[in-house]
Amino acid sequence: MVDARQVAYLQALGVDVYVPRSAPPSPVVVARADEAARHPGSAANLDWDELRAAVAACQRCDLHATRTQTVFGVGNRQARWMFIGEAPGAEEDRQGEPFVGRAGQLLTAMIRALGLRREDVFIANLLKCRPPDNRDPKPSEAASCRGYLERQVALVNPTLVIAVGRIAAQNLLATETPIAKLRGKVHSFGAQAWPVVVTYHPAYLLRSPGEKRKSWQDLLYARQLFGRLEQESAGGGRA
Ligand code: URA
Repeated sequence: MVDARQVAYLQALGVDVYVPRSAPPSPVVVARADEAARHPGSAANLDWDELRAAVAACQRCDLHATRTQTVFGVGNRQARWMFIGEAPGAEEDRQGEPFVGRAGQLLTAMIRALGLRREDVFIANLLKCRPPDNRDPKPSEAASCRGYLERQVALVNPTLVIAVGRIAAQNLLATETPIAKLRGKVHSFGAQAWPVVVTYHPAYLLRSPGEKRKSWQDLLYARQLFGRLEQESAGGGRA
């Protein structure tokens, strides 16, 4: 294996050097990813590469037949903020990245309003595949994908999760409580009870711009809570 300095040196000498962009996954990684794709509950021990491979290979529900590609999630793997939306739309299905369409631009603006950059946070969806015609996820689809999301949250281990929109909120929190009643409180998700705050989906805000004021209140609440949680963990609270 040649390192970067050697490559530069050899190239300066006019020697063509073949450098693979990324090593192909080992047979062990492929086998564990295949296993996890068949049983997402077993995603619990996967590392990032294995999890990504498991999601890419997943055929647990019918959405695999209509997707262009899976949409794994994007951002800082050590992020302290994690945003979880519903499912990829047409643009996300095309580009393979969550929240890149019109709603995504508004989510990026919301992230900036928190004083963060999109690349500082981690963004994922409940579902990794686009439901046809942007219909709501079926409970069975959300259940098929849940193990992947739980593992993503565990790997990131954020200080605070923002559930973006009603569907994400109700699924994450396993409740049918209306979103208006879930806002402005701290909830928890998953094995380590990660704190969760709920806000409106940017697609909804585009349709109902009058509600943007409430989403700003949610962001202020989240920022204040985040500060408290970080203080507590610095003082020996949450690990
Ligand atoms: N809406 C979502 O919930 N997620 C996306 O990735 C795009 C739109």
